[in-house]
Amino acid sequence: MTETASGTAECPDCGGTGWVLEEKDGVEAVRHCRCFEERHRRLLLETAQIPERYAHCEMENFELWDRDNPTLGRALRIVQEFVDLYPATGKGLLLMGPVGTGKTHLAAAALRSLIVQKGARGRFVDFTSLVLDIQMTFDGPGTAREILAPLLAADVLVLDELGAGKATPWVMDLLYYLVNSRYVQEKVTIFTTNFLDTPKGSQEALADRVSARIRSRLYEMCRRVELRGEDYRRNRLAHREERHRP
Ligand SMILES: Nc1ncnc2c1ncn2[C@@H]1O[C@H](COP(=O)(O)OP(=O)(O)O)[C@@H](O)[C@H]1O
Ligand SMILES: [Mg+2]
Ligand SMILES: [Zn+2]
Repeated sequence: MTETASGTAECPDCGGTGWVLEEKDGVEAVRHCRCFEERHRRLLLETAQIPERYAHCEMENFELWDRDNPTLGRALRIVQEFVDLYPATGKGLLLMGPVGTGKTHLAAAALRSLIVQKGARGRFVDFTSLVLDIQMTFDGPGTAREILAPLLAADVLVLDELGAGKATPWVMDLLYYLVNSRYVQEKVTIFTTNFLDTPKGSQEALADRVSARIRSRLYEMCRRVELRGEDYRRNRLAHREERHRP
């Protein structure tokens, strides 16, 4: 479809102006056309840069597939409540747990819902890529400030896989700046991480990965949601193969 500055050229309702006349209680007023709203939402979704891999993630298709794992239902409930209350709560989410438990699914689903339902300006960013991008500013013309600006400005930011990869102290400082600035400006951030606060065995704790001061900020700005259990992909695939076995 051809898009004009404000609407869709073929739109039967507004003819591409993006505005429609509405009569309410005998008074005529103009309001944005539906095509304008749809286009606006589509632009917001594109700007959010949710990776293709997680484009399908919605709250509605998050399955409570393991009846013995109450953390799935609990996490889904908390995320749904978070979306419903936005922007009233002001608190973000910290989704913690092992690989494949659905943390990124829920984070992407929440972001999408907030964009579509509430018109939030959202951004999705993967921690490892962010760290690499910032580290590259040493060699390239782009400055770290340019990389961070859209992440600081977003109403809702998903920072996926916090603590993955290894960041230099200089990058950690910038990261603290990002997290803290968002906290001070009361902007909502959703973090996911494979690291726990008190891990078993030889696993590192989240505070060791991202520094104690970032971890303590997270406490203040987020509701903590822990997911436990098995890897969804491995289990679902295994079950499917079982079913198809002759
Ligand atoms: N409960 C679930 N219902 C539906 N899909 C799921 C569920 N848990 C995980 N998935 C899917 O499995 C894949 C891995 O999940 P992901 O959210 O990336 O896990 P994590 O971020 O915890 O490592 C994704 O494609 C996701 O959509
Ligand atoms: Mg993930
Ligand atoms: Zn229209």
